[in-house]
This record gives sequence, C-alpha cells and structure tokens, in this order.
Amino acid sequence: MYRTHTCGELNIADAGKEVTLAGWVQAVRKLGGGVTFVDLRDRYGITQLSFSKDIDNELYEQSNRLGREYVLQVTGKVEERSNKNMNRSTGEIEIIVNKLVILNTSEVPPFTIEDNTDGGDDVRMKYRYLDLRRDTVRHNLELRHRIAFETRRYLDERQFLEVETPVLIGSTPEGARDFVVPSRMNPGEFYALPQSPQLFKQLLMVSGFDRYFQIVKCFRDEDLRADRQPEFTQIDCEMSYVNQEDVLNMFEGMTKHLFKKVKGIDIPDFPRMTYAHAIKYYGSDKPDTRFGMEFVEIKDLTEGKDFVVFDSSEYVGAICAKGAASYTRKQLDALIDFVKRPQIGAKGLVYVRYEADGSLKSSVDKFYAPEDLKKWAERCQAQPGDLILIICGETEKAQKQLGELRLEVGSQLGLRNKDVFNCLWVVDFPLLEKDEELGRFFAKHHPFTSPKEEDIPLLDTDPGAVRANAYDMVINGVEVGGGSVRIYNSQLQNKMFQVLGFTEEKAQAQFGFLMNAFKYGAPPHAGLAFGLDRLVSLFAGLDSIRDCIAFPKNNSGRDVMIDAPAVLDQSQLDELNLKVEIKE
Ligand code: AMO
Repeated sequence: MYRTHTCGELNIADAGKEVTLAGWVQAVRKLGGGVTFVDLRDRYGITQLSFSKDIDNELYEQSNRLGREYVLQVTGKVEERSNKNMNRSTGEIEIIVNKLVILNTSEVPPFTIEDNTDGGDDVRMKYRYLDLRRDTVRHNLELRHRIAFETRRYLDERQFLEVETPVLIGSTPEGARDFVVPSRMNPGEFYALPQSPQLFKQLLMVSGFDRYFQIVKCFRDEDLRADRQPEFTQIDCEMSYVNQEDVLNMFEGMTKHLFKKVKGIDIPDFPRMTYAHAIKYYGSDKPDTRFGMEFVEIKDLTEGKDFVVFDSSEYVGAICAKGAASYTRKQLDALIDFVKRPQIGAKGLVYVRYEADGSLKSSVDKFYAPEDLKKWAERCQAQPGDLILIICGETEKAQKQLGELRLEVGSQLGLRNKDVFNCLWVVDFPLLEKDEELGRFFAKHHPFTSPKEEDIPLLDTDPGAVRANAYDMVINGVEVGGGSVRIYNSQLQNKMFQVLGFTEEKAQAQFGFLMNAFKYGAPPHAGLAFGLDRLVSLFAGLDSIRDCIAFPKNNSGRDVMIDAPAVLDQSQLDELNLKVEIKE
C-alpha cells in the first residue's frame, strides 16, 4: 500500500497514529537548530513533515537534499504542532517522519506551483501538466466535474438518455467554419467535425428517443475570444412532444438545480425578455441584468439646436451612471477612448454632469442650454451626482456601442459582482438575419428553427420581421445556452430553405437525409444546448473559459504544449492523396 491517508485529511484527532503519505514536495523549510519542515502536497491538501537532527540525523540530512516537486513516500507519527496554521485543514498536526522513500526526483519546475504563481500565461500553457498541480486550476476542474455530474443526475432522473453521436460527419449548418478531416479511403473527400450534434439529435427524435442529451465536444473554426474555444463542450438536449414553455421550464429547472447543488444558491424564477426589448434597452441580446442603467432615447429632445452630430443621427441614446458625476476629466477621456476603440467603433461620446449642487454641465454646452440638459436628465431619471453618457449614430450600431459602454461603466462602478447571479431567458429572436453585402437572408439560429405560427405569412412579404420560437439563456451577460422549437413539417422546412436561397438540389444534397427522415412521422420536437465551459467559468467567476478546460488552445488556436497544429510528413500526405501548397 502506497499510503494510508491523503495529504488533506489528518487532523488533531489522528494524533499518535502511525501513517504513510505520498505526494509532491511543495516546500522545504530549514529552520535553525537542526529542524527541517517539508510541505507534502497531493490533490487533497498539504501536510507538514518534520525532520529533526536530534531524532534521526540521517533522515534529517536526507530531508535537506530534497528539491521542489520531488515525489515522496513517508511514514511517521502524527503529532500536535506547537506552531499551528489554522488556515490549513491539516494545520494543527505534523508528521514526525521515521521512513522516507524518494519515489522520484524532479527538475526545478519552470514556475512555482502556488496559487500566486510567478509563471506567465505562455509558460504555464507549455507546462500545463504542472499548472494543473496548482490548487486554483484544479478546483476549476473539480467544479466542472460536479456540474457535469449534477447535469447527468438531473437529466437521468427525468428520463433523458445520453446517446453518443458521430464525430466524423459532414458539415452542419451552424454558421461557423468547419474543421475538416481528409478521408484516406475516399480520396479527395473530407469529413467535417460537428459544430454541434444538431441534425443527429433531431433524427433521434424521429427515432422515438423522446428525451436525449449528450455532454459532447463541438468544433468551430472561428476567431477566438475569452468565451470561445475551437473545441468546446455542449450539454446538448432535445425533447419530443413539447412546446417552448416545456423546454424553458425543464432547463430553468436544471440551472436552478445546478446552482443549488453546486453552489448552494437558490435562484428565483427566470424573467423573460424579448429580443427586441433586450436590444432597445441594453443594446445586446445577452444583457447583463445585474444592474439597471437601461438606455433612454433622447433624440426628440436634442433636435433643432444646430448640433449637427445629433441632428444627423438616426438614434441618440443615453445611460445614467449613478453617482458618477465626480468622474474626472481623465476618466471621461478614458471612456471616450474606450468607445473609439476599433472593436467598438463609436465616433465619440457626449456627457452631462449633474453636479451635486443641481447644476448641469455638458461637453455640448455650446449647443444646449441648462434647460435643455434638464429635460434630458429628467427623462433619464438622473439625480444630482449622476453622470449621463450619450452615444448617437445609426440605430443598430449606436445601440451596440452604448451597450459596450454600459458594461464598461457597470464594471467601473463595481456593479458586476461575480458572486451575484442574474439569470434570464431572451425569447422571440428574429428567425432570419440579412447579410447586407450578400443581399440575402441567413438563419439566425439554424435552418431548422420554427417561425412563430402567427409570423409565417410574413415569410413571403417581410422575412426580416419573422420571429422565431428561439430562446437563449443568459446569465450575467453571458449566453450560456440557446435553442429552439424545430420545424417538423417538410413543407415548412422546404419553404425555409427557399427563403434561405437554397435550390432544391442543394437542400437535398446537404440535408436530404433529414428531409427524408421527416417523411416518416417526425414528432414535434424542441431543444437547446448549453455551453458547459461558459457555465463552469461563470460558476467559478473566471474571466476566460480557458481556465476551466484541462488542456485548452491559446488565442491562435494552438496547443503550445503538444505543439499542434503541425505539418504532416510527406508519407502521411501521400497516403491521404493530399498535396499542400501554401498560398502567399
Ligand atoms: P449555439 O450555436 O447557440 O446552439 O451553441 C450553444 C451554446 O454553446 C456555447 N458555445 C460555445 N462555447 C465555447 N466556445 C465556442 N466557440 C462556443 N460556441 C457556442 C454557447 C452557446 O449558447 N445546435 C444548437 C443548439 C440547439 O438549437 O439545440 C447550437 O449549437 O454557450
């Protein structure tokens, strides 16, 4: 037996016991007077080992030669410590070692294995297996396990079956680029990795599985951000004989279950917000509702004062930052720089300070008298001490920019507390999105999403106005999941392909198998998928989903530890009938 206990479980009640532990050397502390302490670490905790010259000189000498991350097996007696460390579960005891086996030595690690490590991002990613020895990183993976486990429990108790779907498939129409895999046995042909198991789960409904789920890797070749990885994990679900309400209730229930079981938090019923409302008041289809600061439209109040910037704008919108009138010139300039960043793209920002003495000062005093500003302030329900920030422009763009500004100001004012969780459903998404450049419509969610019954006639007259039976779950401004009620009627599905500009041949070629399946009695069905990585990072309060993935990719989509992607040997290329030519 390698060990009788772990490094995290011994306490004062074990005093006097003879134990054997195994683990890694976290630190060696040589005290004067012939005593050395070694902190021994494993997944469960840290236990102090004590070596004394007086008790066993040979062992004492040996302990002084131990290096960080050596792997040890030690046997000794548990004793109460004189100098207790109450921050540690094992902090009241130490082990008086009487046997030491060095199971393995270690080179000096490239960074310290501690919560506050000295290692930068790159080096930690290159040595991810060492990074994973750190408590903070491991805790995120433990949390991930708990969430996946509780998800399975909740769904299993409700008759969901976990079914594996293939990874080598053809393109799924999810809208991102596919990762492709060449087929050796079919020269010149490629598989695609699934962007989601969408079509397969719908086929499983046709097969009568009734309730399906899968915790499944999905692959999307898109530009990476803090909340996006090229391979990520979905909790993918589908149900038959349900309407939208049934799906929302089932998965609102699951989310509440996870919060309760994993974090001990009771979450109240989720409010529902329409997509149109979210855009109008938050400039985003994933509003962070931990704080208000909703948009106020003031275009009508600004007109006719010769301020061309506002007069020529389709939209003038304001937010009221409570208590921020004290913002300095420097802070305001920083906000202006923020909205002018290319990612946000605003031309500028107008501000009005509602001073504590009730006076109003703005960056457009040349055009607007205090009475004008007063009207703006009233509509914004601003009080003395508040700061009003205004962005104008083309409606859709300006709303998006104001949305970004709202989040930035919310962060600056400390309104986005990571320990507060605000969940909601955003519903009634538009069915279609127009690509102005290509002059045609694309499915906002995917082509199998059903339009709202009452909007179906609009498919012929005003496709852009058709609303979908589609919904997203949003928590603290993060889209954690999304789904829809599906089309199950072949005629409507054909109509949809037509609106999306698919010829009959193209629709057949790409989705023929689904269309055929629908000829054999497809039940009404609906579903959704959660982004597991996003859910875990929210629960853990992380800034990036990378930190809850054991072996993530960096921002260029590389795994720097295994150095992938990489070029292939010529022999491998030959076998695949591939010729690689890099275009400059
Ligand atoms: P959707 O494309 O909205 O829907 O994806 C579902 C959820 O997956 C997460 N997600 C991601 N997480 C990390 N990195 C990514 N690159 C990434 N892309 C998406 C998000 C998102 O809400 N088949 C449909 C679901 C359905 O209709 O049932 C789908 O995939 O949290």
